Amino acid sequence: MASLTIRKLDDAVKTYLRLRSAKNRRSVEEEVRVILRELIEGREEPLTPFAVPPVPSSTPAPQRTGALPEASVTLIIGGGIAAYKSLDLIRRLKERRIEVRCVLTKAAQQFVTPLAVSALSHERVYTDLFDPQSEFDAGHIRLARDCDLIVVAPATADLLAKMANGHADDLASAILLATNRKVLLAPAMNPLMWNNAATRRNVAQLQRDGVVLIGPNSGEMAEAGEAGVGRMSEAIEIANAAERLLRPPVPKPLAGKRVLITAGPTHEPIDPVRYIANRSSGKQGFAIAAAAQAAGAEVILVSGPVDLDDPAGVTVKHVESARQMLEQVQAALPADIAIFAAAVADWRVANEGEQKLKKTAAGMPPLQLVENPDILATISKLADKRPPLVVGFAAETEHLIDNAKSKLARKGCDWIVANDVSPATGVMGGDRNTVHLISRKGGEIAVDSWPVMTKEQVAIELVAHIARSVTDKSLEPAS
Ligand code: C5P
Repeated sequence: MASLTIRKLDDAVKTYLRLRSAKNRRSVEEEVRVILRELIEGREEPLTPFAVPPVPSSTPAPQRTGALPEASVTLIIGGGIAAYKSLDLIRRLKERRIEVRCVLTKAAQQFVTPLAVSALSHERVYTDLFDPQSEFDAGHIRLARDCDLIVVAPATADLLAKMANGHADDLASAILLATNRKVLLAPAMNPLMWNNAATRRNVAQLQRDGVVLIGPNSGEMAEAGEAGVGRMSEAIEIANAAERLLRPPVPKPLAGKRVLITAGPTHEPIDPVRYIANRSSGKQGFAIAAAAQAAGAEVILVSGPVDLDDPAGVTVKHVESARQMLEQVQAALPADIAIFAAAVADWRVANEGEQKLKKTAAGMPPLQLVENPDILATISKLADKRPPLVVGFAAETEHLIDNAKSKLARKGCDWIVANDVSPATGVMGGDRNTVHLISRKGGEIAVDSWPVMTKEQVAIELVAHIARSVTDKSLEPAS
C-alpha cells in the first residue's frame, strides 16, 4: 500500500485538512482517511474549508457494504508474556475481515516490537499518549472511538486495576477511559495475581461496568512449575468472542418454517415469438424471499421472467406462464406460509399459434382469450394442503382499500397486501412501495397502513409481521 506524507502536500490542501480535521476533532491523518472513504462511497465534499459538513466526533462507525460487513478493532496489547499470542490474534481478526489498529503499552514493547505488530496489522502502531507525528492529534480520543470494539489482550493485572479505577496516565488507559465502545478483555497473569483480592475486586467492578471478559484459561504458566487459572485465552477464542460482539447472531424467527412465494409477471404466449405480459419487475417478491430466508425460513420462490439475480439461499423455480406457475406452486406444497406476490396474467390466448402469426390483408388475427387459473384462490381454497397462512397482493389503480377488502373475501386468503400501482406512484418497476396490510381480526377487517418504504423494507416488515403471527396467537389468521 502507498503511504502519504501530509507535510509534502500543497499549503492550501494542508490548511484545508488542518481546519477540517480540527473542526471534526480528528487527526489530519484520520481526516484524510474519512475524505477518501467519502469519495469512494460517492459522497464527495467540495475542497473548500467553508463547506465542511459537521461530523460529530462520536459518530458510530460507518455502515459498510458486502456479504460480511467489515468491522474495526482497536487492540491494546498489554505487557505480559502472552503478548506473543496477540500477533496471532491480529491475523485471526484480519481473516474475519476485521481491521485492527494496535496500541502497545510500554511494558508490551518488552515482549513484542511495534515493527512486528505493524507488519501484521498493516497499520501504524500507537505507543504514546502525546504523539508528535500527527498534527492536531487527539490520539486517545480517536483510537477510543474510531472503531467498533476495543480488545485488550493480554489484559494484565495492572491494566485491569487502572481501568477499574479510571486511570488515564498512558495511551492504553486513556483510550479505555475515553471510549464509548464495547470493551473485551482477555486477562493474562499469574494465578496468584488473578486470585488476589485486589484483582477480584477490579474484575467484579469491570463486569458491573459492562466490560466483557474472555478467559483466563487454566493451565501451565510461563513461570517454571506453576499452573492454575491465569493463562490468556487462545487467539482463536478471543477472535471468536470479538466477532460475537461485533456481529451478534441474527435472530431467526422463521427457522423451521417453509415459505412459498410467487413473484414477477407471467408471459402468456401468443405464438413462438410473442407473448402477453405486464410491467411487474418481481422486486417486491424477491425482496420478500430474501427477507424470509434471512429470518431462517426455507424459501421456495416461483418466479416468472424477471431481470433479477436469484436470492442467495433460496430455491428458485423459473417459469413463464400462469399454468406453469400453478404447477410449481402445487409441487412445492406443503408450506407453512404462502405469499402470492406475482402479477399473474388473468388471461391467456386460447389457441397459441404453433408458428409465428403472419400479417394478412384481413388485418389482425383474432385472439381468443381464456381465463388463467387463479393461483392464490386455488391454494387458499385447498381442503388438505392449504398453508396455515396465505397472503395475497392487490395491486390496484383505484379504490385500493375497497378492492383489496373484497379480494380478501373472494380469494379466501388470510391477508392482503394492497398497493397503489397507478403510474404516478412509480411502484411498478420502481424501488419504493406504499402498502396497506388488510387482515381479518375477530370478524372485522383491519387495515394497517404503512408509510412509504423501499421494497426491501416492506419485505422486512411483512416478514416481521408473519414472524409475530407465528408466535402470537392473537395475530393468527381467522379460519
Ligand atoms: O385478481 P388479482 O390479479 O388482482 O389478484 C392479485 C392477487 O392474486 C395476487 O396475490 C396475485 O399473485 C394473485 N393471483 C394469482 N393468480 C392469478 C391472478 C392473481 O395467484 N391468476
